[in-house]
Amino acid sequence: MSSDDGELETSLEETEEFEPPEAFVEQANVTDEGIYEEFEDEWPECWENAAELLDWYEGYDQVLDDSNEPFYEWFTDGKLNASYNCIDRHVEEGRGDEVAIQWVGEPTEEDDRAVTYEDLLEEVEAFAAALQDLGIEEDEVVTLHMPMIPELPVAMLACARIGVPHSVVFAGFSAEALATRMNSADSEYLVTCDGYYRRGDPLDHIEKADEAIGSVEHEVSDVVAVNRLGEDGPEADLDADQHDYESLLADHEGAAVDPVERDAEDMLFLMYTSGTTGAPKGIKHTTAGYLSWAAWTSHAVLDLEADDTYFCTADIGWITGHSYIVYGPLALGSTTVMYEGAPDEPDRDRLWEIVEEYECDQFYTAPTAIRSFMKWGSEYPERHDLSSLRLLGTVGEPINPRPWKWYYQHIGGGECPVVDTWWQTETGGMMVTTLPGAKRMKPGAAGPALPGVDVRVVDSEGDEVEGGDAGYLTVHKPWPGMLRTIYGNDERYIEEFWAEYSDADAGEWVYFPEDGAGIDDEGYITVLGRVDDTMNVSGHRIGTAEVENAAVEVQGVAEAAVVGAEDEQKGEAMYAYAITEEGQAETDELRERIVASVEDAIGPFARPQEVVFAPDLPKTRSGKIMRRLLEDVANDDDLGDTSTLRNPEIVEEIQGQASAN
Ligand code: WT7
Repeated sequence: MSSDDGELETSLEETEEFEPPEAFVEQANVTDEGIYEEFEDEWPECWENAAELLDWYEGYDQVLDDSNEPFYEWFTDGKLNASYNCIDRHVEEGRGDEVAIQWVGEPTEEDDRAVTYEDLLEEVEAFAAALQDLGIEEDEVVTLHMPMIPELPVAMLACARIGVPHSVVFAGFSAEALATRMNSADSEYLVTCDGYYRRGDPLDHIEKADEAIGSVEHEVSDVVAVNRLGEDGPEADLDADQHDYESLLADHEGAAVDPVERDAEDMLFLMYTSGTTGAPKGIKHTTAGYLSWAAWTSHAVLDLEADDTYFCTADIGWITGHSYIVYGPLALGSTTVMYEGAPDEPDRDRLWEIVEEYECDQFYTAPTAIRSFMKWGSEYPERHDLSSLRLLGTVGEPINPRPWKWYYQHIGGGECPVVDTWWQTETGGMMVTTLPGAKRMKPGAAGPALPGVDVRVVDSEGDEVEGGDAGYLTVHKPWPGMLRTIYGNDERYIEEFWAEYSDADAGEWVYFPEDGAGIDDEGYITVLGRVDDTMNVSGHRIGTAEVENAAVEVQGVAEAAVVGAEDEQKGEAMYAYAITEEGQAETDELRERIVASVEDAIGPFARPQEVVFAPDLPKTRSGKIMRRLLEDVANDDDLGDTSTLRNPEIVEEIQGQASAN
């Protein structure tokens, strides 16, 4: 590092606020701070601004229908199609030869694939025709258990084209997790692939489909498998009702499939996520509200334009990839870069190589990745020309000022605004972040709520806290991108999200995202993390109950409790405390069986980092496990008050066990 860099580093360390870079502001999509007041005064009509980014077959009658709170409806009676909005209209505008998806496979010896809007239209139409031929009807849910290959967005858009909601299950999920989700969605169709590359090795993926189908409670009508690995792939062993994607496409080449007119409130997709209680929740998103939200936030926050090349490192199997690799960028007609592999394959500069080669304008990633980049060192980005970048973003967990500033300096060269975007699977898109062309940035704080979004920080009574204090994040007005319900369970929807702070009798409905947060005098929000029983491990939300259920499946395990401990790299690291049955020895072999059981039930990304055997778990007199104390043990923190425990002595014993490990 040169001495100039050293000086810059020191001065950055002391800087707590950053003005939006001038060159950025000059060209930004949103620059006028007046938008906050304007949207407040004109709420909910302000959201016509989002609807206007889409093309409609038929206009809507009402922006917001709140006659059946909290089951809000947006843009009622409007008709549109998401696939048309993400593809056809750009082709009709003469932009068919521009690249829609720039796909980069993990193996470097393989050619990257540029899918133009015209190509995308052809492939989506052919696959949509194939799906129709299989007999799939409007509103039947199709499950997509696929990794980062171009056929995934093609399949999503083919579903959207024919009015079939998709349920994408992250490829890292196990057979069992896939089956659970297919059961919950009553989904009879599955699209998968033979395998994919991860850190240089071909990975068998189709075996999970084969195994999952055995555990699906209803009949699985058809399975479609993409051939990703060619020669490297597992031997194809397709049953009569299994089809290979390539033949289906060939059979339907040149097919014309008109996009179906979907009602604004028709379901676009389901996405499963974890909550406090066992079963994952199927979050329902709709066509108009969700798509307009993805488009508007991409426009206002990511500053996306049709001629931009934009790179988001998320996986499409999670909501970030849905909103900000597929739907937002394609609705705006830009080029979205999709990378199959790991950020350090074959070397730690892979992402910067991609940014340089495709001259990316925006880059969106997670704090856990930024912490890795920082640890690896600035020589990797320094090897590349990153001057095409004009905006950086982060999402998934809180980012501390140090990695924020490293990102700002070493990736953005001090010339790109950084947007720290708070949102969730349930919100559909961004909710709290700075408008990069209009607002000062404060590293460590995501920012104020977006214009037209009413996010507050309240105490346990629901009263707003003073600037400088902490409390709970709440949302006091509905927004177009919001979830509509938990699939098939309206009651749980109300219980999970609306019960805590609403006053239904007074007609006051308050959405509770289950995050803790602080707020400063200027309304900048620092999100502290989940207050429910879920963990955030490397930006993945994992339910403690799901992991605990898997642990107690293991023979010899009587009880288990799982907590997230602070971890510099992953945000949270998972610690599993297990109590063995009488006569069961506390062995490494048992530890391994516990880990394997979690991998089987959820997937390798959810494996506990440590398994600690404990004589008992700290419990309240009513028998509830005190997870807070287990977290304190894992964090090596002071234990505080243990007097309300039924078995206070147990905590010290567990401490002893943990340090013996
Ligand atoms: C939870 C949502 C949003 C897509 C990725 C995760 C945490 C998200 C931030 C941020 C602090 C954040 C929250 C939230 N989170 N973004 N910028 N700062 N925390 O989606 O799996 O639905 O998880 O991630 O705790 O509730 P998800």
